[in-house]
Amino acid sequence: MKNRPYVFCHMMTSLDGKIMGNWFDAPEVEKAGEFFDDLTFGRVPEGYHMQGWFSGRITSEDAFTNHRKPDLDESAAPVPVGDYVIKMEKPMYYISIDTHGRLGWTSNTIQYSGVTARILEVLTESTSNAYKALLRKLDIPYVIAGKDTLDIPLLMEKLYDEFGLRTLMLGGGGIINWSFIQAGMCDELSIVLSPAADGSTKTQTLFMEKEGLSDDRPVSFELLDVTKIEDGALWLRYKVKNAK
Ligand SMILES: NC(=O)c1ccc[n+]([C@@H]2O[C@H](COP(=O)([O-])OP(=O)(O)OC[C@H]3O[C@@H](n4cnc5c(N)ncnc54)[C@H](OP(=O)(O)O)[C@@H]3O)[C@@H](O)[C@H]2O)c1
Repeated sequence: MKNRPYVFCHMMTSLDGKIMGNWFDAPEVEKAGEFFDDLTFGRVPEGYHMQGWFSGRITSEDAFTNHRKPDLDESAAPVPVGDYVIKMEKPMYYISIDTHGRLGWTSNTIQYSGVTARILEVLTESTSNAYKALLRKLDIPYVIAGKDTLDIPLLMEKLYDEFGLRTLMLGGGGIINWSFIQAGMCDELSIVLSPAADGSTKTQTLFMEKEGLSDDRPVSFELLDVTKIEDGALWLRYKVKNAK
């Protein structure tokens, strides 16, 4: 596929492949975490230079909206048809996959690791008028991609053409990561593997299928590089072999 941004999936995991949980409290994870954030925002020479990152609805609820419901006006006037494009001079978007319009945003930016990013919501044609009206009121740009379910290639095309985006990070959680990778919409996998584990079976892993979004068909990866990091962590980089 042409005309889509380059996408790298960048995640920090435990030795047992978790992206959440008690393993984060192990002392050896601190240096890995600092290195992970420095790579994310290009603060080390080998770091990435992205224009935004994709995030799943559950990650946004945990990290930013605290499970708040959106403050909807069901009698809002009909919004104009189509996308609501707001271009940034120096883009840094938080691209929030929220096809049902569930996230209770109250402002149009988020702060993470010293960086301010503009929220960009990803909706479908089935998202309510009231939710789109709320986004317009908050000046949160949005893209409509798909009828009832997300059309990932169409989303990529719109981000490339309408927002001019060329390099984006796939930033978790496990459900969004796997749905994009299985769709062939991710070029590179970057894992900071921390020397800690917790054995939990209740926490999310790096990749997780979800009925209706993805399944358990395998995808192969080609190892590009391995780097040792302070305190025993590893930085692993792979090419995703099914990328379109
Ligand atoms: N260690 C790390 O580096 C790291 C990074 C990021 C996140 N995390 C953690 O990961 C956890 C959440 O992960 P998760 O896997 O449970 O959830 P997630 O990927 O954050 O969100 C999943 C939800 O996103 C929406 N979604 C994802 N893919 C979609 C698609 N293809 N089409 C339509 N909607 C899609 C769906 O929302 P609906 O249900 O509304 O349809 C889906 O239920 C959080 O606790 C977070 O803290 C860790």
